[in-house]
Amino acid sequence: MTAFALRRVRVAEVERVADEVKRFRLVDASGAALPVFSAGSHVLVTMHGANGHVWKNPYSLISAPDDGSGYEISVLRLASSRGGSAFMHDGVQPGTELHISEPVNLFPIARQGHKHILVAGGIGITPFLAMMQELAALNANFELHYKVRGLGRAPFCDRLLADYGSRVHLYRSDLGQAFPLESVLSEQPLGTHMYVCGPAAMINWALQVGRAVGWPQENLHSERFTAPPPGRSFTVKLARSRRDIVVGPQQSILEALEQHGIDAQYLCRGGACGQCETRVVACDGALQHNDHYLTDEEKKSGEKIMICVSRAAGSTLTLDL
Ligand code: FES
Repeated sequence: MTAFALRRVRVAEVERVADEVKRFRLVDASGAALPVFSAGSHVLVTMHGANGHVWKNPYSLISAPDDGSGYEISVLRLASSRGGSAFMHDGVQPGTELHISEPVNLFPIARQGHKHILVAGGIGITPFLAMMQELAALNANFELHYKVRGLGRAPFCDRLLADYGSRVHLYRSDLGQAFPLESVLSEQPLGTHMYVCGPAAMINWALQVGRAVGWPQENLHSERFTAPPPGRSFTVKLARSRRDIVVGPQQSILEALEQHGIDAQYLCRGGACGQCETRVVACDGALQHNDHYLTDEEKKSGEKIMICVSRAAGSTLTLDL
């Protein structure tokens, strides 16, 4: 997909829900209803910062999937932010207008599952807020296992405990509470699915535990978006259109192309979906792969790059564009 149809929305509410985490309620700027969505969906929020910088960040929808009166998202201010999350925290207030994409779901509920184990770490709780509402509406069997540093850093704890009671299991690292994932997974009935979202190390660990206790790969689901990391500036040569584009230190290749009016494929902009995969023609330095899509072998081959998050360490990268 390229150039999503954008919808103009107005920020109706902003609420601080934990340290460095805010909730935003977005309504259609013209007063129209918003399309219903499936739990696990995200939208891309377009933000225009100073100096002409444009961010298009993916945020999970946390509101009820069948509620067209507004969408809600939750944003953690990242310490290493290139500016997008800081813009949302410092520059967005009730009344601010933004543009969002239509909802896209890369993390759907496996409707055939007999039971659903949701594993969240920190801000990774966000897709599960909508999932739990959908699962509850379906009268499905589910549990949330939520690992947090402490209550002040755990968005939505009170709400989750009030709404779902004993289905919610909290593990507080400030109290030294261990997360016995292996025993949790070992006790589940056949046909249970696990979904995990949170820091990369936690996702890797949870998937590894799932495999180690013998769960089939198709019952293990994860979602992780990577913010494009900054790096040294380099030049992208477009082999087919014969153009040279400079990628700035704070830009992704995709953002640099868009800045110059070049329409490139994307969907998640976070290294997860594979939509922006591009063939590498030549590179005078190492490729810096930051995506979660290419296999280790594909990364080693140097033949492909995900232009939404990955970079080149050399001075020139030639792409089949
Ligand atoms: S747009 Fe999804 S991996 Fe790049």
